[in-house]
Amino acid sequence: MQIIAHRGASGLAPENTLKAMAKALTLGVSAIELDVQAADDELWVFHDRRLERCTNGKGVLTEQSRAYLEQLDAGEGEVIPTLWQVMEIIAGRCELHIELKGADTADAVAALTRRAEAELGFTPGQWVVSSFHHPELARFATLRPDIRLGALTANLPLNLAQFADELGAWSLNCDVDFVDRILVEDAHQRGLRVLVYTIDYHEDYEKMASMGVDGIFTNRPDRFL
Ligand code: G3P
Ligand code: MG
Repeated sequence: MQIIAHRGASGLAPENTLKAMAKALTLGVSAIELDVQAADDELWVFHDRRLERCTNGKGVLTEQSRAYLEQLDAGEGEVIPTLWQVMEIIAGRCELHIELKGADTADAVAALTRRAEAELGFTPGQWVVSSFHHPELARFATLRPDIRLGALTANLPLNLAQFADELGAWSLNCDVDFVDRILVEDAHQRGLRVLVYTIDYHEDYEKMASMGVDGIFTNRPDRFL
């Protein structure tokens, strides 16, 4: 079972910050997940639509200027990092799952993955790009057909893993609240991996293992490594 640090080691440091990424690397994870959104011609590593929960700022992230976002406190004195800043500190040392949080992210992420391969030592096989925004994921696939896709779902689809198959995904990434043995078997029959979010307790980990899940996103990678 692969252990993927969710928003970095976000149970041990402010989520999606450089500190959370550094903590995950120190723990020796083989993969880190983060969320990206576009604002003012930049890709920001941030989960929520609004700034209030995770920063001292206000408003919708995508409507803000670079100058405003750069000076916010994202917890423990950390700033909201750009995707490039996170890529620089990881520098090919583990896999990176980049979740496209919304529209207008696919083109910029495709360009930045190419640049990171040229300048930071990443290989195409170290990326997984995922999204709940399936049109954006399909757009990304046309730009980087060599990169693995993670098809995200927060529910149990009528046709099980069919949507992920149709997207040409490498993995079906599903919510712990909806994953079941039938979904896992259907995904596996289609040649898809199954990755489940968010698993922070051993009891849940054991349930996932018994279903044959291939990987988990966790805020506490220290508990499973
Ligand atoms: O990619 C797994 C997980 O991060 C998806 O949900 O809302 O935590 O980004 P969310
Ligand atoms: Mg995410």
